[in-house]
Amino acid sequence: MTQPIRFEDKVVIVTGAGGGLGRAHALLFARHGARVLVNDLGGTAQGEGASSSAADRVVEEIRQAGGTAVANHDSVTDGERIVEQALDSFGRVDVVVNNAGILRDRTFHKMEDADWDLVYRVHVEGAYKVTRAAWPLMREQGHGRVIFTASTSGIYGNFGQANYGMAKLGLYGLTRTLALEGRKSNILVNAIAPTGGTRMTEGLIPPQVFEQLKPELVSPLVVYLASEQCQDSGGLFEVGGGWMGKVRWERSLGVGFDPRTGFAAEDVAANWTRICDFQDAAHPADNLEALREMMANLQKYAG
Ligand code: NAI
Repeated sequence: MTQPIRFEDKVVIVTGAGGGLGRAHALLFARHGARVLVNDLGGTAQGEGASSSAADRVVEEIRQAGGTAVANHDSVTDGERIVEQALDSFGRVDVVVNNAGILRDRTFHKMEDADWDLVYRVHVEGAYKVTRAAWPLMREQGHGRVIFTASTSGIYGNFGQANYGMAKLGLYGLTRTLALEGRKSNILVNAIAPTGGTRMTEGLIPPQVFEQLKPELVSPLVVYLASEQCQDSGGLFEVGGGWMGKVRWERSLGVGFDPRTGFAAEDVAANWTRICDFQDAAHPADNLEALREMMANLQKYAG
C-alpha cells in the first residue's frame, strides 16, 4: 500500500504560479499540506508588464480551500528576494519548482537580441537565481527537492523556438549537474517537459485537445518528485494529458578507428551507416559511462 504523500512540515516555492501549470502545482501542494509561496510577476505571455493580481488570486484560492500560502510578485530574476520572502513568511524552504516562463517565438533569421535575452533571462537565469538562493538552505538542512521545467521544444526542437529550445534544454543540463552535486545533501533534482492547455499554448493546440490537456494533469508528477517517497534524481519526464514517461539519452554503439594511424573524412563517410546505427545502442547514465567506449578504443589499439 502506497503511503500518502504529505507536506505538513514543508515549504514549497512555485514560480510563475499565478496561472497555468504553476497555479495547478501550487493548489495541489497546498492540498497535500504544504505551505506555499506563490510567485508570479503577472506580466504577459511575452514577458511584458507586471501585476500582483495573478499571484494574489491563487493565494486567495488556496486560503479559501483551507490551505496556507503567501504571494510574491518579484521576477524570478530576483530569485534571492523570493527565497527571502519564503524564509520571512515560513522560516524554511524545502522545495523549489522552477516553472515561470514566457515565449518570444520567432524564426532564427528574424530573432532579435531582445527575444533571445529575455527568454534566457526568465527561464535560465531566473531558475538559476531562485535555486541558487535556496541551495545553501537545502544543504544545511540536509533535504531539498528542485524541479525544473524543460520542454519537448528543447528536447526535440521546434520551428520558431530557437531561443526557447536553448533555454529549456539548458535547464536539463543544469538538472544533471545539480543532481550530482546535491545527492550527498539529500537534494534531489529533476526536470519535467510538460504539455498543458494554458495561455502559453492557447491558439497553438486545437481547441478540443487544448480542453483535454488540463494543467492539473501535470501536477501529481511534480508533487511526487518533490516528496520524500521519490528517490530519483537527474531525471527528465515528459508529462501531459494524464500520461507521463521518462526520457534518457541513447547513443549508437559507434565505430572505433585506429588512433595511432589516424583516419580520413572518407573513412567517416564509409562508416556513416554504422556510426548512426542504433542497434545495440547504449544509454550512458553518467560521464564515466559515456567515456567508456572511447577509452576501450584507445586500449584496443594501445601498445
Ligand atoms: P503560463 O503563461 O500560463 O504561466 C507562466 C507563468 O509564469 C505566468 O503566470 C507568468 O506571469 C509567470 N512569469 C513569467 N515571467 C515571470 C518572471 N520573470 N517572474 C515570475 N513569474 C513569471 O504558461 P504555462 O504553460 O503554465 O507555463 C509554465 C511553464 O511550463 C513554463 O516554464 C513553460 O515554458 C513550460 N512549458 C509549458 C508547456 C505547455 O504546454 N503549457 C510546454 C512546455 C513547457
